[in-house]
Amino acid sequence: MKIGVFDSGYGGLTILSEIRKALPEYDYIYLGDNARAPYGTRSFECIYQYTLQSVQYLREQGCRLVILACNTASAKALRTIQQRDIDPTTFRVLGVIRPTVEAVTADCPESDKLAEQPRIGILATPGTVSSCSYPIEIEHLNPAAIVTQQACPMFVPLIEAGEHESPAADYFVHQYLYGLFMQDPLIDTIILGCTHYPLLLPKIQDALSNLTAHAPSLNHLNPDSVRVITQGPIVAASLKDYLHRHPEIVADLTTNGTCRYLTTDNPDSFASAASLFIAQPIHADHIELT
Ligand code: DGL
Repeated sequence: MKIGVFDSGYGGLTILSEIRKALPEYDYIYLGDNARAPYGTRSFECIYQYTLQSVQYLREQGCRLVILACNTASAKALRTIQQRDIDPTTFRVLGVIRPTVEAVTADCPESDKLAEQPRIGILATPGTVSSCSYPIEIEHLNPAAIVTQQACPMFVPLIEAGEHESPAADYFVHQYLYGLFMQDPLIDTIILGCTHYPLLLPKIQDALSNLTAHAPSLNHLNPDSVRVITQGPIVAASLKDYLHRHPEIVADLTTNGTCRYLTTDNPDSFASAASLFIAQPIHADHIELT
């Protein structure tokens, strides 16, 4: 059996590539629901239905375990699917928010340990922000943390359209970072709480360095002291640990090191866009979800 990795579009490939580095031996199926992305501006019911269809499809394709490599689906659909729709003795679905929060709260900067008050900024989709999943999970693990959220509704559409290196991307990166730091100028850790956002990391780092020039009220901000967290390595390490604790799942997994790519949109466009994330050329197949 295989490990399924699901996202609304391309973003989950940032997670898949790190998982395959950490666990190259297993067989994977990646499913991107590109035809219906972005999810982040959709209703709870819609995100739940789309995610459930994708999870069921991956199960029918022989997956033993599915990673929701999508924060929006993890925030809006994971718990309901786990509680209502699957039998955990034969099939598991895991998300990306909990492992991210565990890693970030366990590994906060020295200054925070002394002050015991991490200041965490979340950049995420409107759906993830409105769910408050990050503030709630962080509060469980470190009630002293101060959490500030900024919704970034334009990031996923820009990335899905291949416009993440455009001047439009510069504009929105600046706008959203400014919005985040104007809410809390003392943020020392930014979580990229959407698996698409690592594609904007160079622009986010540039904008961080230039923020003080555009906003005199932020002139105390030292961009070098702000950590920017991407989820790929965190989720990969967490899955490795999870499999270590679940030998009964490992026993069901096949180990030929393969990966199949499925998309609900044009498979040729998917294969060419995937080259941003994966070094070698890939082949993708089109599927319909109902
Ligand atoms: N990669 C998804 C996430 O992590 C993007 C969701 C969307 O399609 O808006 O949230």
